[in-house]
Amino acid sequence: MLRGLRSLHGICWFFFAWLQLVFSQSFTPAAIPLAVRSPYFSTWLSTTNGTAVTNEWPHFWSQANSHNNGWAGLVRVDSITYRWLGAAPGMNATTRTSSQVTPTRTIWTVKAGPMTLNITFLTPIEPSDWVRQSMPFSYLSFEAESTDGKSHDVQVYSDVSAEWLSGNLSALVQWNTTTTNQLIYHEVVLEESTQFTEVSDQAVDGTLYYAIAQGTSATYQTGQDAVVRGQFSTKGTLKNSQDTNFRAISNDYPVFGLAVDLGNIQSTQSPVVWSVGFVRDPSIQYTTGSGTVQNRSPYYVTQYSSAVDAMEAFVSDYSDAASRSTQLDDEITKNATSISSEYSDLVSLAARQTFGAIDITVSQGTKSQWNTSDVMIFMKNMGTDRRVNPVEVMYAAFPMFLYVNASYGRSLLTPLLEFQTSNIYTLPYAASDLGTSYPIASGESSSNSQALEDTADMIIMALAHARASGDGSLLVQYYDLLKSWADYLVDNSKTPVNQVSADGQNNANMTNLAIKGIIAIEAMSQISSVLQNTSAASTYSEIASADSSAWESLAMSQNDAQGLLFTYGLTNSWALMYNLYADLLLGTNVVSQSVYDRQNDYYNSLISDGTSRTYGLPLDSAAAVQGSSAWLSFTAATANSSVRDQFISMIWKRATYNQTAGVFPATYDVDSGTVTGGTASPAQGAMFAPLALNIANQTISTSGGLSGAGTSGSPSSSSNIGAIVGGVVGGVGGVALIIAAVFFWRRRRARAAQVAYEKTAIDDSAVVSPEPFPYATTPYAPPAMDQSQTTDTLEQPPPIPVMSTKLREHLRHMAPVAPASSASGSGTRTSGSQYSQEPPTTIGGSTSPSARSEIHGLRAEVENLRRYMQELHAQQLEAPPSYVEE
Ligand SMILES: *[C@@H]1O[C@H](CO)[C@@H](O)[C@H](O)[C@H]1NC(C)=O
Ligand SMILES: *[C@@H]1O[C@H](CO)[C@@H](O)[C@H](O)[C@H]1NC(C)=O
Ligand SMILES: *[C@@H]1O[C@H](CO)[C@@H](O)[C@H](O)[C@H]1NC(C)=O
Ligand SMILES: *[C@@H]1O[C@H](CO)[C@@H](O)[C@H](O)[C@H]1NC(C)=O
Ligand SMILES: *[C@@H]1O[C@H](CO)[C@@H](O)[C@H](O)[C@H]1NC(C)=O
Ligand SMILES: *[C@@H]1O[C@H](CO)[C@@H](O)[C@H](O)[C@H]1NC(C)=O
Ligand SMILES: *[C@@H]1O[C@H](CO)[C@@H](O)[C@H](O)[C@H]1NC(C)=O
Ligand SMILES: *[C@@H]1O[C@H](CO)[C@@H](O)[C@H](O)[C@H]1NC(C)=O
Ligand SMILES: *[C@@H]1O[C@H](CO)[C@@H](O)[C@H](O)[C@H]1NC(C)=O
Repeated sequence: MLRGLRSLHGICWFFFAWLQLVFSQSFTPAAIPLAVRSPYFSTWLSTTNGTAVTNEWPHFWSQANSHNNGWAGLVRVDSITYRWLGAAPGMNATTRTSSQVTPTRTIWTVKAGPMTLNITFLTPIEPSDWVRQSMPFSYLSFEAESTDGKSHDVQVYSDVSAEWLSGNLSALVQWNTTTTNQLIYHEVVLEESTQFTEVSDQAVDGTLYYAIAQGTSATYQTGQDAVVRGQFSTKGTLKNSQDTNFRAISNDYPVFGLAVDLGNIQSTQSPVVWSVGFVRDPSIQYTTGSGTVQNRSPYYVTQYSSAVDAMEAFVSDYSDAASRSTQLDDEITKNATSISSEYSDLVSLAARQTFGAIDITVSQGTKSQWNTSDVMIFMKNMGTDRRVNPVEVMYAAFPMFLYVNASYGRSLLTPLLEFQTSNIYTLPYAASDLGTSYPIASGESSSNSQALEDTADMIIMALAHARASGDGSLLVQYYDLLKSWADYLVDNSKTPVNQVSADGQNNANMTNLAIKGIIAIEAMSQISSVLQNTSAASTYSEIASADSSAWESLAMSQNDAQGLLFTYGLTNSWALMYNLYADLLLGTNVVSQSVYDRQNDYYNSLISDGTSRTYGLPLDSAAAVQGSSAWLSFTAATANSSVRDQFISMIWKRATYNQTAGVFPATYDVDSGTVTGGTASPAQGAMFAPLALNIANQTISTSGGLSGAGTSGSPSSSSNIGAIVGGVVGGVGGVALIIAAVFFWRRRRARAAQVAYEKTAIDDSAVVSPEPFPYATTPYAPPAMDQSQTTDTLEQPPPIPVMSTKLREHLRHMAPVAPASSASGSGTRTSGSQYSQEPPTTIGGSTSPSARSEIHGLRAEVENLRRYMQELHAQQLEAPPSYVEE
């Protein structure tokens, strides 16, 4: 019996080992995340066809940026030096035997002589701890084990180069090395940094750190790459010396090395851990609705007075961070594997990519206090342009935020909502972003050709955030604004004209766009119900219901074998109906089950008749081969499990495709796989769309005021992440959460509407005994918090909403009303606006011949790609023997 069990155990073990092997080898994305934390701290490794990963330099995410982010790893075993990271010449090559990408980690097994190495790149995701999430640091850890049963002399080394600091390699840099009781660290800065400025997508106002904990017999050295690495290779230790001949990044490439002598070992007892940091403070320049220009800092400053303090905390937190991350990874992949292992790969690759596009910020209040109630999150439209909080991309990414911690939604939406309630903003619909020059969020008040799309997105996101978090504060505070947008949708959704969709199409009467507007009108009904405005609730609901019946008859093909048409009346046309997703996410029930069923059958027939290609279905029948992973994932979530899994499989095939360089692109040719845009785009948060449908909606609180007991989290608050992260936080002793944000305003009738949101962790000494679930949520704060700080941001209480004349009119002629679209609602951006250089759309591209600027953008992208490929080729084949660092 016992033996039976034992052999069963053995078989299981073998099975899992095999599974892991299969898993680890079958997912081969063209670029894998190494340190991916924020838009300017995003380092990847190309694993394009034919390159050996341990013979390749890491690089910045961008393809416009063809140089590397020098990051080397060497190990010396019995006096023979091997490289396990980067392509440092003159060292022995190694073989990577497995690779695995989890949501927070990239893990390699590398064979170096008689040792097997475990190399882990860990960028933690801390869903409910925004202090930690905003720390601009990432770990690299090293473990080794002898494969021949013998002990070996082992030393290990890693360095970074100054290439992390600028896209201009001629820029001059300075550096120094500091040893404290806890750390040895290198600090590197540009001699001339320029705030809020980019060179080839890289920020030129950052400070690079490379750190290791004391007490590990570590040595350091700064100097020319060949010199410092050569010193390690011949001696196994560094000289604890500094090169003070400050110079250009590419002038005898200065590198910043840290080495550890492990002695004669069979295996490492604990990992050797380096921490790399790229610190920018201030991180964002935001123009408030009242015109004040604010420099906003990364949120961790509320807890740590300097970057070095934050770094010390980060370095010493490694083992807790690693176990929190492992648990988070396990929860996410377990949830995802319930769909498929391919799906699990997709969410794993998407998670850091999406978090890597945001900056979590806080403003400074009066008296130099951090205004901890004022948390705003900014997202860069990576892979396309520098738009700030691009609405349709945020919308694509939203399922991930809803899934990990819906409170992110609030802080992502807040700057957009705040700006658009100001006097500066006079348009009747939502803006598409906060400006076009990340990290400068100057606000956008020019006309928006994606008005219908973006307006519906904003309403849908506002409700989705409230349902998933239970936090109704945005709905209360911005009710009037949301309602005026809903009225715009009432006028423009049913038969949309002069509108560009998120995927770049601009035809009249696009079925998919129309239904999004109608769903958002029903969402406004739900929002009105939450606020107990029953008359508005029923009005919007009646409009949505009438419009959706009209829509169904206009949009559905007369041919029973087909489904919804691309545009009304266009026979034999079709489109990916990704906008139906919102109907399921919000439970609006605008679209009838028979439409879902018919659409499902039709997708099935498109898959079997060969309309679908290797990497997906194109966006629509007019799009030829242009596809989008994000919108395909949304569409997958609206289909039955069989169609869903086939769509997921197509996205997976593109994600694992390594014949073309580029970080997991959001748009590509579904036939050839060629990237057409959106490299490293946060739109990949859309991979979480199927999972986000399982999130339970919460009772939405519009009054807050729940007695919050400060640090312990309010039991009445809740968020879906609890199921995921509760165990993580609970499992890690010593994490305490405090309230980060509170503000409230008074309703005329003495009703306080209090809102609350993110909490943060404070240091481990201020322990509150961890509780399993409510931690991960959005605790409501005690109203005691400094009101004076926030009074000027307070809004008047929303007046009892009055039905607009338009609305009333519409109701009166309910059935066939097709309001003429207002000219203001359909303007295109004037040429000569900042947009003329960039396609107005981000996900997907237009095939319409008029989209010249878009084609221009694509061409530029192809050119960049070509240059990038050339560079890769040169590195691989033409490196002269003396070649040191590219
Ligand atoms: C590229 O993908 C192929 C499978 O398509 C795989 O065999 C190969 O190992 C991958 N290359 C790298 C460097 O991961
Ligand atoms: C590489 O390995 C060979 C023996 O396998 C050794 O002679 C040589 O010194 C090694 N190179 C370095 C840089 O250690
Ligand atoms: C390397 O990772 C494997 C798989 O997780 C583990 O079994 C092994 O113990 C690790 N090796 C070391 C030296 O930690
Ligand atoms: C790069 O930096 C050097 C040195 O500061 C400067 O002279 C040069 O103009 C810069 N080039 C660009 C393209 O910014
Ligand atoms: C070097 O260290 C000092 C603190 O000892 C710091 O103030 C200074 O900014 C550092 N300089 C550089 C170039 O990193
Ligand atoms: C994830 O899995 C846990 C159980 O492991 C479950 O309670 C939770 O609802 C799942 N979440 C989602 C969004 O699927
Ligand atoms: C849009 O569809 C409506 C209803 O079928 C039709 O009356 C209208 O002419 C269409 N608009 C355009 C520009 O095709
Ligand atoms: C990828 O590698 C395969 C096998 O070595 C080769 O046939 C193919 O041409 C390569 N593709 C690219 C794009 O380099
Ligand atoms: C969840 O949403 C539905 C509407 O879709 C609503 O009827 C239900 O009451 C909500 N549940 C909670 C707990 O709020």
